[in-house]
Amino acid sequence: MTELATASKSEVENFWNAASCGEVAYARGADFQAQMKSQADARYQLEPYIYDFARFSDGRGKSVLEIGVGMGSDHQLWAEQQPLRLCGVDLTERAIAFTSDRLALFSGLKSELRRADAENLPFPDASFDIVYSWGVLHHTPDTQKAFAEAARVLRPGGAVAAATAASLDPIVGFISSHRGASLA
Ligand SMILES: C[S@@+](CC[C@H](N)C(=O)[O-])C[C@H]1O[C@@H](n2cnc3c(N)ncnc32)[C@H](O)[C@@H]1O
Repeated sequence: MTELATASKSEVENFWNAASCGEVAYARGADFQAQMKSQADARYQLEPYIYDFARFSDGRGKSVLEIGVGMGSDHQLWAEQQPLRLCGVDLTERAIAFTSDRLALFSGLKSELRRADAENLPFPDASFDIVYSWGVLHHTPDTQKAFAEAARVLRPGGAVAAATAASLDPIVGFISSHRGASLA
């Protein structure tokens, strides 16, 4: 993992296209539905603090963007809140396919999902009330630019919630969370 700290964008993309986050370790089961459940069960058992950090219920009736959807378990929880608008991006087609297929398991869960780069978000300024990202922005080569993009697409009064790893070393790494409201 440590070498991802200096990886190019295409190396980051290739890495996460080989296997999405949690796919190898947690997606167990005979079919896709079982694998998605197994991955989500393991995720929230290991990281229950995600609920408090994300505040998924804040998404009800709001415009929400998730950056770096991965296997889509958090994205499912956002979709369940029936936001006014939900968008999800990831650098990899693999993550977009996982998340799209995952939402399709549940009728009524909708999102605009597309492959896109956190450093160049394909949305106009002031598009979202909430911009959420868990474990993503430290992986992209220009993390500062990705944070600037998150702020750019946020509406005045909106909130960014982004958790990054303070280190990519799995031994010393720990989560650094960032939560801020737009004052503009
Ligand atoms: C550690 S995984 C986290 C995925 C998910 N948020 C989770 O918590 O399981 C990192 C994800 O960030 C995505 N990613 C890395 N750089 C990105 C970028 N520049 N733009 C969008 N997504 C990116 C990867 O493709 C991968 O899906």
